[in-house]
Amino acid sequence: EETKSWKKLINIAVSGAAGMISNHLLFKLASGEVFGPDQPIALKLLGSERSFQALEGVAMELEDSLYPLLREVSIGIDPYEVFQDVEWALLIGAKPRGPGMERADLLDINGQIFAEQGKALNAVASRNVKVIVVGNPCNTNALICLKNAPNIPAKNFHALTRLDENRAKCQLALKAGVFYDKVSNVTIWGNHSTTQVPDFVNARINGLPVKEVIKDTKWLEEEFTEKVQKRGGALIQKWGRSSAASTAVSVVDAIKSLVNPTPEGDWFSSGVYTAGNPYGIAEDIVFSMPCRSKGDGDYELVKDVIIDDFLRERIKKVQ
Ligand code: LMR
Repeated sequence: EETKSWKKLINIAVSGAAGMISNHLLFKLASGEVFGPDQPIALKLLGSERSFQALEGVAMELEDSLYPLLREVSIGIDPYEVFQDVEWALLIGAKPRGPGMERADLLDINGQIFAEQGKALNAVASRNVKVIVVGNPCNTNALICLKNAPNIPAKNFHALTRLDENRAKCQLALKAGVFYDKVSNVTIWGNHSTTQVPDFVNARINGLPVKEVIKDTKWLEEEFTEKVQKRGGALIQKWGRSSAASTAVSVVDAIKSLVNPTPEGDWFSSGVYTAGNPYGIAEDIVFSMPCRSKGDGDYELVKDVIIDDFLRERIKKVQ
């Protein structure tokens, strides 16, 4: 008999479930490190016909792991079935880019997937489903997805830029010679692409503006920015495939940022729908901006950020 009080089970869909990113992510979800040790979950895995056997293998490994919080594992290739009643949809499945490609080159192939999945979410998912789009180009895919899901609030769709935020934090920490947890208030503006703007103007190290700690402005404006923008591509050159483990970690971070209250004074980045020209950014797109959450799965945009001429110029170029 259970003495512990469990929360109500939540349904989580993961697409591209037989892929590399998911292989890292699913076991983190099942372990409780994402939604907490008292939150039982059902994992609903979406794959393709081509990957179906691999998907069966993933489900077998999850079952064999005897995670106490993992109450149900189901697999399928029809999003209208898999997305039934899901409260979270982690949309990872998409063709990844290879060496020498830009993420935007994937739009023709991947856009279609996200239109269909948007329609399926609209038809069968929980009315308050939170959607995190990981498959590239994730901003455009998120926009396509939300446009195809008019009955779900546009606000519930996210394009993953947490990976870029983490990369930016790492670079700032290395340059300043501090542990990464001393770096806060890092915003990624724009797209998860080489045009993105990692914001060192508002970022802080040990609570101080980055520019007071890292005096090398040329490094900040040029090397730092470029390094973060091109990190994904540099990794593909090394591995011959795109990042998987660090992407999964950043999906975990992105979810945790929505289901836990944001620490006082800090924020996180997410690619979200621009309603009403926030920060002067064009309306009706998905754009990464600084967000805070009360921990209820929702977020609000941060008001008090400085947009100086340098940032404004760069942000303008992304739109
Ligand atoms: C990444 O940033 O690592 C991923 O978006 C994969 C890619 O194509 O760069």
